[in-house]
Amino acid sequence: MTNRHKDDFYPTPETSIRPFLDLEVFEGDIWEPVCGDGAISAVLREHGYNTVDTDLNDWGFGTSGRDFLLEQKALAPNIVTNPPYKHAQAFIQKAIDLGVKKHCWLLRLAFLEGIKRFNQLYSKHPPCRIYVFSKRQTMIRADHDAAWYGSGKMAFAWYVWTDEIPDTTEIDWL
Ligand SMILES: C[S@@+](CC[C@H](N)C(=O)[O-])C[C@H]1O[C@@H](n2cnc3c(N)ncnc32)[C@H](O)[C@@H]1O
Repeated sequence: MTNRHKDDFYPTPETSIRPFLDLEVFEGDIWEPVCGDGAISAVLREHGYNTVDTDLNDWGFGTSGRDFLLEQKALAPNIVTNPPYKHAQAFIQKAIDLGVKKHCWLLRLAFLEGIKRFNQLYSKHPPCRIYVFSKRQTMIRADHDAAWYGSGKMAFAWYVWTDEIPDTTEIDWL
């Protein structure tokens, strides 16, 4: 049996969002295209942003039944999200193809590596900034508590893309 929740539903802890929002600002609305139960959107709204919230599944928040990979146009100029990790590259490519001005993804640090990913994504359109969490983060599956997930701490980072290709990728620490 798999221990991965249906479609990778891991609500993002506030502590994995707030430090990032202290450093990045956004112009215009922010789309949370895999909004889950609204964990990220709630913090974005607290910071004064208007959010557009969609998800494939119904977690009691936002508009459900929306497959991000099938979207035909961007619903806002910005994206801030924690995507299903197994589809992360496809999601980032989709945001690039939709022409989203600024899109930010909470991803494992290991997402930096991989020759296929380099050839298909980083060599063509690298992120402009990466914020590495100096402290490891815990993502808890929505239907379990912290004890179940135990010491599952992982290295995470926020990856920021814009619609302009940067000369270099800046790196900083949270
Ligand atoms: C890791 S959870 C993150 C939820 C939320 N972004 C957060 O940070 O709390 C991933 C979410 O992606 C949704 N999802 C998976 N595949 C999707 C797709 N193709 N289109 C839209 N949402 C999808 C799942 O239903 C789940 O809510």
